Amino acid sequence: MTQQADWDIVTDVGITALAVAAARAIESHRANPLVSDPYAELFVAAARPQPPMPTRPADAPDPWQDMGDYLGVRSRFFDEYFAAGATRQAVLLAAGLDVRGYRLDWPAGTVVYELDVPKVLQFKQNVLADNGVASRTEVRNVDVDLRDDWPTALQRAGFDRTAPTSWLAEGLLPFLPNDAVERLFTSSTSCPRRAAGSPSSTSTSTSATWPTSSRWPTWPRTSGSTSPTCGRTTRPSPPCSGWPTTAGGSPARRS
Ligand SMILES: C[S@@+](CC[C@H](N)C(=O)[O-])C[C@H]1O[C@@H](n2cnc3c(N)ncnc32)[C@H](O)[C@@H]1O
Repeated sequence: MTQQADWDIVTDVGITALAVAAARAIESHRANPLVSDPYAELFVAAARPQPPMPTRPADAPDPWQDMGDYLGVRSRFFDEYFAAGATRQAVLLAAGLDVRGYRLDWPAGTVVYELDVPKVLQFKQNVLADNGVASRTEVRNVDVDLRDDWPTALQRAGFDRTAPTSWLAEGLLPFLPNDAVERLFTSSTSCPRRAAGSPSSTSTSTSATWPTSSRWPTWPRTSGSTSPTCGRTTRPSPPCSGWPTTAGGSPARRS
């Protein structure tokens, strides 16, 4: 990984993972919530961010109420995407403090690959272990910088590029430079897929970005300009383009 990809859960873009967890906690504590994430508040409690982040609706000032709304809708949308997809592989790009491997029902034998920087994934693992939270399917951590050659790291973790796969890039694209976004979609749309709700078809890659609102906090970016994209990706690509042809090759580095 590059030297830059060294943030933890309360520094640089790592803190954005904590902020969306706080917003999911707020939504989870509302009456009739769109998402139930019982672990989100554990992360905020363990990280002790300064200034503190709210996790309950009664303690949340206005921008946080909006974030609870937004994260509720976003999380619910992607929860339903995975429920309908029924693939045996799921790849969560920039998983952050996403705990879908720990709170959703998955078909037997599903492997969920979580990609993010090591300190963020390690923090998540520690908090879940400290609280006795077990995964509901096999979850494999893949330490990466998503500006680097993450497909090689994913394959080394056991990813089967011939198997139908559900892909998710949630809250990631604003943090990546344009060339990394291009590579991300080339890689994730070029392998066998199955469309959510379409058993005989292929899967989808799906993404969501950070909405713009002058009332919301601004967060750091990793580098470069952005190319925000929203919605399902259907761009055709050559078979498995962007993927290493041999396992164990040297990852390409950004200069
Ligand atoms: C806004 S959070 C979203 C986390 C998660 N997808 C969710 O919705 O809860 C952004 C995440 O992107 C990760 N991230 C940003 N740039 C990255 C990079 N270059 N490589 C790996 N992870 C990155 C951060 O560490 C953080 O966990």
